[in-house]
Amino acid sequence: MSKIDLLNTSENSAESPAVTGLGPSRRFCVAPMMDWTTSHYRYLARLLSRNTLLYTEMVTTGALIHGDTERFLRHEEAEYPLALQLGGSDAKELAHCAALAEKFGFDEVNLNVGCPSDRVQNNMIGACLMGHPKKVAEGVQAMIEATDLPVTVKHRIGIDGRESWDDLCKFVETVAEAGCKTFIVHARIAILDGLSPKENREIPPLKYDWVYRLKQKYPHLEIIINGGIKTFDECHEHLRHTDGVMLGREAYHNPWLLAGVDPEFFGESAPVQTRHEALRAMFPFIESELARGVYLGHMTRHLLGLFHGQPGGRQFRRHISENAHKPGASLEVLEAALAKVREPEPATIAEA
Ligand SMILES: Cc1cc2nc3c(=O)[nH]c(=O)nc-3n(C[C@H](O)[C@H](O)[C@H](O)COP(=O)(O)O)c2cc1C
Repeated sequence: MSKIDLLNTSENSAESPAVTGLGPSRRFCVAPMMDWTTSHYRYLARLLSRNTLLYTEMVTTGALIHGDTERFLRHEEAEYPLALQLGGSDAKELAHCAALAEKFGFDEVNLNVGCPSDRVQNNMIGACLMGHPKKVAEGVQAMIEATDLPVTVKHRIGIDGRESWDDLCKFVETVAEAGCKTFIVHARIAILDGLSPKENREIPPLKYDWVYRLKQKYPHLEIIINGGIKTFDECHEHLRHTDGVMLGREAYHNPWLLAGVDPEFFGESAPVQTRHEALRAMFPFIESELARGVYLGHMTRHLLGLFHGQPGGRQFRRHISENAHKPGASLEVLEAALAKVREPEPATIAEA
């Protein structure tokens, strides 16, 4: 009996989607996003939710092995639970980087099999690997052997030319046989020939039912759904069929949504009551980053969405955009920006 058959035959059924013993909870996750889910964004996200699992931007194995490893893996303990996302396909390199992830304190190491950009395709990184399930399986197996961290895979439901249900099942089964138990599935195919990465996040239609079917077919795999999810109502609906939800763009553009996650999905109180409180709680970190020579604007660009949809939110953003990049810009810029948005009554936790 293959490992995948074993996975299919235990007493657990699709009626109980929770899969345990796989490291941090992935019930609610923020997606890895290049240039967006930086340490500065993640610090804010963590102030808003203790339980949301955060992912780094993708780091390629080449960058980690040949570049400034410390800089690429830099993060704050305050960001935990935190997953490192790797881009790569060489098993030895992936193993080396998975061991680094553990050494640097990450809670999970994730392999990117979803990114469609040309640059990564040329290096056999990202979504093109969906056409090479065995290669992914070898990489995953090597990673599992190199670390005790959970090793997870984030992928699409297909790529052009390999977009059938059978192709998807073959991919998942092959990678699961190598020992991967958690699959984060962006519920659309990637079209590698002709669409930009941005178009590839918008044009191929979302097929949530395929992700639900994966969970039904492989109930012992942890299946996290991703793509186009915006509201808590949508999350609850997806959670009826899958083990977790991953939000990308909405969590970035409207980070206050995260303040509702702990009460809504974890039965805990929210860590902060107001947006003002959240931003002020970030000041000591911003101060220490400024002291390290980081420009204020480099950090604040990830905070601009905090007052999204609020009275004064536009003035808040404008003040920061016009001032944070100036030489010597300090926390005073943020104080002045905060003065432009009315402090609401406590207990106005985000409506998602
Ligand atoms: C700016 C940006 C950068 C992204 N970078 C990555 C990345 O590094 N790794 C990855 O797996 N996906 C990346 N993605 C895709 C997201 O993780 C996610 O799969 C996609 O945005 C769909 O989810 P959403 O509709 O909730 O945004 C990126 C998306 C955006 C918008």
